[in-house]
Amino acid sequence: MDLSECTGPVVTGVAPTFVRFVQAMTSTLERAQGDEARILHEGTPLVTELIGRDDWLPDHLAVPLPGAYGQYLLYRDPADRFTAVAFVWDASSRTPIHDHTVWGIIGVLRGAETAERFVCRDGRLVSLGESTLVAGQIDRVSPRIGDIHQVRNALPDRVSISIHVYGADLPKVERHSYCSKTGRIDPIYSKPYDNARPLLDALPVL
Ligand code: FE2
Repeated sequence: MDLSECTGPVVTGVAPTFVRFVQAMTSTLERAQGDEARILHEGTPLVTELIGRDDWLPDHLAVPLPGAYGQYLLYRDPADRFTAVAFVWDASSRTPIHDHTVWGIIGVLRGAETAERFVCRDGRLVSLGESTLVAGQIDRVSPRIGDIHQVRNALPDRVSISIHVYGADLPKVERHSYCSKTGRIDPIYSKPYDNARPLLDALPVL
């Protein structure tokens, strides 16, 4: 679905670009009925279009945490079928090696980020190599297509921002972190979001 073809009511304080994205993503989830391949196939162009313009993310949701990365909830589907989260990476900040256990579509809005992918083989973590995404580019994860990675801001001296759309509300989901040296796997939960209210509380009733 082309977001430019969607129309909908105005939500005060929220850019129409983002409202239309949420409407289109919601429609995709309803049509797909849990078919992950279809969600990724139809959701990817929606995220690509969302990150194709950089005038919709409010400044207060684009603030990095010193030396780390902020996670700002933009929208949570009422049934937790998907969430949209802005990751704001301080210079050189990085995640641990982790998985997600659900599908995810990740698009870089500003700057660049580098992801190293891994697989578990015979109880060992094996690197599949690194790739760097710049603004406008997309990565995807899931247990079906590859789910373990470590992500960092590719830029040593400036903030990068990526928009993550996941098939769940991740702070409610038990996931895992991985130690590359020892092979140890630990359960983790995402930390609480760094904003009190999402950018968009709810889709307006048409
Ligand atoms: Fe991740």
